[in-house]
Amino acid sequence: RLDVGFVGYRGMVGSVLMQRMRDEGDFNRINPIFFSTSSAGGDSPNWADSGPLQDAYSVEALSKLPVILSCHGGDYTKEIYPKLRSSGWHGYWIDAASALRMNEEAVIVLDPVNREVIDSALNSGGKLFTGGNCTVSCMLMGIAGLFKSGLVEWMTSMTYQAASGGGAKHMRELLTQFGTLNNEVKNLLDDPASGILEIDKQVLSKQRGDIDTTQFGVPLAGNLIPYIDSQLENGQSREEWKAQSETNKILGLKGDSIIPIDGLCVRIGAMRSHSQALTIKLKKDVPLSDIEDIISNSTEWSKFIPNNKEDAIHKLTPVAVSGTLDIPVGRVRKLNMGPNYISAFTVGDQLLWGAAEPLRRMLNIVLD
Ligand code: HSE
Repeated sequence: RLDVGFVGYRGMVGSVLMQRMRDEGDFNRINPIFFSTSSAGGDSPNWADSGPLQDAYSVEALSKLPVILSCHGGDYTKEIYPKLRSSGWHGYWIDAASALRMNEEAVIVLDPVNREVIDSALNSGGKLFTGGNCTVSCMLMGIAGLFKSGLVEWMTSMTYQAASGGGAKHMRELLTQFGTLNNEVKNLLDDPASGILEIDKQVLSKQRGDIDTTQFGVPLAGNLIPYIDSQLENGQSREEWKAQSETNKILGLKGDSIIPIDGLCVRIGAMRSHSQALTIKLKKDVPLSDIEDIISNSTEWSKFIPNNKEDAIHKLTPVAVSGTLDIPVGRVRKLNMGPNYISAFTVGDQLLWGAAEPLRRMLNIVLD
């Protein structure tokens, strides 16, 4: 059994990862060693047969391990990874953070889509593997087949991203805001004779006034936020920039082969599943039945949802998808712009395929 170090296993992504690894019996294959940035010497998780927590800032302790998996975030990675490498460490580093994703030697892992890119890196001695951006990974888990069959000329994605993308505190803030707003108008809601315009006015006044927005900076409950991550010089947000750069990197496309992808990323009041509306320009007129087949066979988890209202409202939502590995893709139809233009709508749990799942699968690939 290989020693595998885990850093950041108690955060939100780390907790989802631990649960998935326990569910799948991954710990039977390894000897886990848990690291902490704050409680070295404390107890490892009680379900693990492991010694005391080790110091996540100790290059000496980390460098004894053949594999390290970090969910601790980009700042930690930026601080510790260069020190480890310059100490002469040659182990595998598997990381949930975006900090190293675009490094030349890093592979963005999404093995149901890019196993050949991963294998080729492993064969040539690659040791740095990172998870992708959640919207990119979830999108590709649904429609990778269209890209791989060479049909996509370009794509735009308009996203509807859940609070969890910001973090655990952001999810709590959203729920607190819902409660604050409900509380504000509870008496009026309980009175069937009250006027809806008065209720709306009081809600708006609360949203604009005294409501906790510590995490998001503005209210998300009953609102949306049309900007995610930092502002870039070219007018894109960093989240929007990731769509083209990461999708092409995952698919191994470079230079003239790069497929243009762009769109707007928007935060909405869902909990943990990101949704996206896609407009795709195909290189040729492909019958919808063929597109359905290609999407259905994209990955084991892509699920084609017929384009009717009942299926869409029940199967193509964050509520339907959260907590599952399914990636439904629906609302697929030809657009008025012409036979080469199609729409699609897809949803994915951003903590599973968007974060933890590709990492646990990459760990298993290293172990195989
Ligand atoms: N950047 C994503 C978001 C989270 O804010 O929703 C993880 O990739």
